[in-house]
Amino acid sequence: MVKVLLIGNGAREHAIAEAIIRSQHKPALFSFMKSNNPAIAELSSAVRLGSYGNLNDINTFASENGIDFAVIGPEDPLNNGVVDSLKRISIPAVGPTKQLAQLETSKSFTRNLLSKYVIPGNPQYRIFTSMEGIKDFIDGLDGVVVKPDGLTGGKGVLVQGDHFETKGEALEHCREILREHSVVIVDEKLEGEEFSLQCLSDGTTVVATPPVQDHKRRFVDDKGPNTGGMGSYSSEDHSLPFMTVADVAEGLAITQKVAEALYRETGEYYKGVMYGGFIITKSGVKLLEYNARFGDPEAMNILPLLKTDFVDICKAIINGTLNQLDVEFEKKATVCKYIVPKGYGLPADHPDAQSMSAKIDVDDVQEARLYYASVDKKDDGLYMTKSRAIGVVGISDDLESAERIAERAVSAIHGPVDHRPDIGTKRLIQRRIDHMKKIRG
Ligand code: GLY
Repeated sequence: MVKVLLIGNGAREHAIAEAIIRSQHKPALFSFMKSNNPAIAELSSAVRLGSYGNLNDINTFASENGIDFAVIGPEDPLNNGVVDSLKRISIPAVGPTKQLAQLETSKSFTRNLLSKYVIPGNPQYRIFTSMEGIKDFIDGLDGVVVKPDGLTGGKGVLVQGDHFETKGEALEHCREILREHSVVIVDEKLEGEEFSLQCLSDGTTVVATPPVQDHKRRFVDDKGPNTGGMGSYSSEDHSLPFMTVADVAEGLAITQKVAEALYRETGEYYKGVMYGGFIITKSGVKLLEYNARFGDPEAMNILPLLKTDFVDICKAIINGTLNQLDVEFEKKATVCKYIVPKGYGLPADHPDAQSMSAKIDVDDVQEARLYYASVDKKDDGLYMTKSRAIGVVGISDDLESAERIAERAVSAIHGPVDHRPDIGTKRLIQRRIDHMKKIRG
């Protein structure tokens, strides 16, 4: 029997766990989680709760259970070197080593890699370790984005027009970032529509999964603060309504070149997920950033559609035989909406903040899928634990009915919760299409 170790405790990992368990190999799942996800626990043969920084504990759990391979969900354990640590006890993983995970953990590493290997996709950018030269660079750009180098949970990127208005404020943000971090990255602000392209890589072969569009902002019509992601959708034609076939191909081509460059740069094969956050601009597809893992929520859009056995995919990634596998997805549309506590993303003194750990009741969600994120199962029911609580996914032949399925399920979840009713709707998608038409001229 194949024994698989899954590291992670969110809705993304619930979707991964489900894909593992669905395998015809009838694998046994062993889950290492920093806090108990009741849905993952239910699918697991054994669970260990612990810190993603405690690599000894992870190795012990893996050895005790005779694990064949590991799948790493979130970025923190990758950044801590969990893949290197498991490798030392001969357990391979779907996930990059610490050095290769810099693709996500160091924005400057990735920008410089693209420049060095002359890979298209970088915007105009510069990396600064002091304030010297920042003003001149910013003055030469129409709009700017400033960000620190390391992991920020998707919330550290500051965009002119969204998070601040003037170049003076941009300079002030750079100063603040440099007070806490050694490096600040300044990118030219790009105008366009974003898409997530989660690619599977064995180091030489890179395979794209259907593109997805995420919604980072907390409130309807992309208002409010950035979050980890409030929901996402994908189309039955494995494109997105505002994209062309060439856009998808461009994102994949960039990622294939990056995989090759990573090998040339480090001598290591990248085995895992290369999730490109791209933006389609008037001058083609540009790279916003890479993540070294599946997206959350985007994993919930693509993994339920997988027709190919996920354990076979994992083995092919590990063995470098992805070129021998047909990775296929159902031709279905998906809409994912995150149920969050009403106070999610709001200041701690906001009246809704008390909802963060409230009890919720889940009625019959009919054909929708539920993926548990930050929830705790107590004797008297299900409680939210201060972050995104449940991912609700509608899957159907077209976006309209997938959205309807997701909305129906949302209304079956009761408590002081909120979600974004606009995600996946015709109105919002038409806005994306119109925006892209305008950009392409
Ligand atoms: N969807 C954003 C992320 O996974 O980082």
